[in-house]
Amino acid sequence: MTFIHSKAAASVPRISLADGATIPQIGLGVLRIDDEGVTPVVESAIESGYRHIDGAAGYNNEAGVGRALAKEGVAGKHANADRRAAMWVTTKLKDSEQGYDSAMHAFERQLQLLQLDYVDMYMIHWPTPFDWRAAETWKAFVKLREEGRVRTLGVCNFMPSDLERLHKETGEYPTVNQIELHPTWQQRDVVACCKQHGIAVEAYSPMARGADLNAGDGVIEKIAKAHNVSPAQVILRWHIENGTIIIPKSVHADRQRENLDLFGFSLTADEHAAIDALDGPTRAGHDPATFTYA
Ligand SMILES: NC(=O)c1ccc[n+]([C@@H]2O[C@H](COP(=O)([O-])OP(=O)(O)OC[C@H]3O[C@@H](n4cnc5c(N)ncnc54)[C@H](OP(=O)(O)O)[C@@H]3O)[C@@H](O)[C@H]2O)c1
Repeated sequence: MTFIHSKAAASVPRISLADGATIPQIGLGVLRIDDEGVTPVVESAIESGYRHIDGAAGYNNEAGVGRALAKEGVAGKHANADRRAAMWVTTKLKDSEQGYDSAMHAFERQLQLLQLDYVDMYMIHWPTPFDWRAAETWKAFVKLREEGRVRTLGVCNFMPSDLERLHKETGEYPTVNQIELHPTWQQRDVVACCKQHGIAVEAYSPMARGADLNAGDGVIEKIAKAHNVSPAQVILRWHIENGTIIIPKSVHADRQRENLDLFGFSLTADEHAAIDALDGPTRAGHDPATFTYA
């Protein structure tokens, strides 16, 4: 497999965003992997065909991601322009660094750690509505976009009230909203609001950190058996068919490949309905109304 002509990479659809960019629908999440450990994980993902990495300042592993990108010829002094252009790199601003000046400073540091000249997407990590600085932060984001150092502006964990507040104060909706989304926590109101405003939805914890693999008393497993695929592939395929961008995390090369191999089968309408019916009242992560991630 060569980097530019990887079959696995070519099989992943790209989602067109409102700002004209196109993002690979599957990326690798790198939360809860330490800085040293993340380098081989990102390298194996890129070698498996991942062309989209989802990171954050708050994961404390941007230097390790940067080392992997440099080893793969995507970043650093010896970066190859075609490889850089083929890769989508997302990172996020820490909540503690929201605000105009602090966001500008944070971005400089993050770009250096990643060994990049620009990132494909920069995101506000949490809305912190109890300490709202998103409109000021957004001004920095717009400046970085004007300078060509960020291509796409996004947010995470924004509920409809946060999206409307940002729009009212800045005149813009974000291009992407990354939210917790999986069969047992579908957030249909947030998804509908995003659709209404042309905001692409990106699912984090797309398998509920693994908990949804056993959801619904074996429903997922039964569907998996019918298609001779794994429960993870069933859930991830459901997201893909819903048009959602997904960023499953795995530190294992075989699971990384499995999570990318979603294009040899399709779910039936009944199977979709069965997974839709798993929606429930319990999130796997944190409540954006009250949470801050440092
Ligand atoms: N913006 C935010 O606030 C936010 C919050 C949470 C997460 N995220 C992003 O979303 C990414 C993914 O979310 P997540 O890590 O919380 O959960 P996830 O992707 O739903 O699940 C990851 C868990 O599932 C396991 N797994 C992965 N592939 C598997 C497979 N094929 N079969 C069985 N188990 C499998 C992984 O174990 P192994 O690693 O051992 O394979 C890991 O324990 C994060 O890494 C991060 O980039 C963003």
